[in-house]
Amino acid sequence: MHNKKEIQLFNEIIESRRSTFPYQFEKGKHIPDEIIHRILENANRAPTHKKTEPWRFTIFTGEGLQRFSQMQAEIYTRYAGDKFKDTKLLNLINYPLMSSHVIAIGMKRSKEQVVPEIEEIIAIGCAIENIYLTVNAYGLGGYLSTGGITYLEEAKSYFDLEDEDKLIGFFYIGYPANVPGTFSNRQPAEDKAKWVFE
Ligand SMILES: Cc1cc2nc3c(=O)[nH]c(=O)nc-3n(C[C@H](O)[C@H](O)[C@H](O)COP(=O)(O)O)c2cc1C
Repeated sequence: MHNKKEIQLFNEIIESRRSTFPYQFEKGKHIPDEIIHRILENANRAPTHKKTEPWRFTIFTGEGLQRFSQMQAEIYTRYAGDKFKDTKLLNLINYPLMSSHVIAIGMKRSKEQVVPEIEEIIAIGCAIENIYLTVNAYGLGGYLSTGGITYLEEAKSYFDLEDEDKLIGFFYIGYPANVPGTFSNRQPAEDKAKWVFE
């Protein structure tokens, strides 16, 4: 059992979690890789049915960000088709360069497919929340992007994913600069809950 202060801190970390976008990051400020290792360790602690541990991470940092920026711009330009937008392309080029690290998140389907796909996706959602919370606990900023190349079939192979796997999204991380200290708004939890007492 954790003591009252620890629980209060835990609740505060959840309550103050919010998305922060690359244009809100301090440019050129590098997060020590040890913190990113911790973020990945915490992601890896997410619940996973039958312990399939379906999450796969590709971490881009340093020169790797330039490489990722180019790579996603190329994939997007080549395969976006009707959905192509110049403004989107610009973000895909610039956001990695404004970040300290980008984590590409993939879902690897277990060979035996022991659980339905939706359960693998849920497990990855849990891992992503652990990333969000750890980022917040360390005073960093970040957000999950599922835009750009995420749902392009052709993008999968660039992240060692096969046909039955999925690209889930990209988590951009940096040091937040001048982000207003407000919480992310929610409608009351009670509005979405029904209690059954008897
Ligand atoms: C599955 C998922 C996909 C998301 N994809 C995007 C995205 O493509 N672009 C974006 O700006 N934000 C994206 N977000 C972040 C949400 O916009 C953000 O969580 C929401 O606005 C609530 O803000 P908060 O995270 O500060 O509470 C995504 C979040 C989730 C959970």
